[in-house]
Amino acid sequence: MNNRVAIVTGAARGIGEATARILSEKGAAVAIVDLLEEESHKVAESINASGGRAQAFRCDVSKPREIEALTQAVIAAFGQIDILVNNAGICPRIPIQDMTEEWFDKIININLKSVFFLTRAAAENMKLRNWGRIVNISSTGGRIGGLYRATVYSASKGGMLAMTKSMAREYAPYNILINAVAPGGVDTPMLQMGGEEGLRKYVETIPLRRLAAPAEIARSIVQLCSEETTWVTGATLDVNGGVVMM
Ligand SMILES: NC(=O)c1ccc[n+]([C@@H]2O[C@H](COP(=O)([O-])OP(=O)(O)OC[C@H]3O[C@@H](n4cnc5c(N)ncnc54)[C@H](O)[C@@H]3O)[C@@H](O)[C@H]2O)c1
Repeated sequence: MNNRVAIVTGAARGIGEATARILSEKGAAVAIVDLLEEESHKVAESINASGGRAQAFRCDVSKPREIEALTQAVIAAFGQIDILVNNAGICPRIPIQDMTEEWFDKIININLKSVFFLTRAAAENMKLRNWGRIVNISSTGGRIGGLYRATVYSASKGGMLAMTKSMAREYAPYNILINAVAPGGVDTPMLQMGGEEGLRKYVETIPLRRLAAPAEIARSIVQLCSEETTWVTGATLDVNGGVVMM
């Protein structure tokens, strides 16, 4: 991936951080995009310290205006955009009867609206070289409706799968491949919010009987971003220890 420039959103920690590190190990320059400025800078510094090329960018991906500024800033720093991983997301556990309009909009805007606007902005630059790889991080929730109190989250992740297919069709003539990865339970701060007892019960339902490490998801994401992936677009890759088989 030498000479490739990647944007990874939500890269200050968890799956995004692991993805940024592996992309860098493969030679790509990486834009570490997140709201968590201190953590993002630490990730970028540690990638740079190990011989990679990374820079932290603060951006609220739910705001299209900030997305415009982000893409300009990444192009100014690295010259181009070749790879985009739409990974930033939130998963508040809110029962249906307690869901407010504010939370509904926040979840949809961060998890789904961001994917549309950032994909469109990044693809404009990818078109110039007739090459691009975009991976959207969905969830088993988007496949089967979720296991927790996460109705709106699951809808956002299901919407992302339809959006992946639709945008994959539209950008295919420019050799921009757009796919989704749908992870199962991954050991990150997001999952820990669900409480220990719920987590233990959930792990019992996973055929592989454990959570994934972030790097186990990241390796599948990076595979879809590589030069070797040339004939896969609009697909969803289930990376979930066997908990959902479709
Ligand atoms: N952990 C899991 O079990 C699991 C399972 C399936 C899918 N996923 C998905 O994987 C992705 C990454 O999840 P994770 O487990 O690493 O979560 P995480 O909470 O550890 O990391 C998410 C990152 O996104 C950032 N973020 C949130 N809102 C943002 C915004 N508006 N703008 C920019 N950055 C923002 C956060 O600051 C955080 O650094 C998410 O989309 C999540 O839905 C996670």
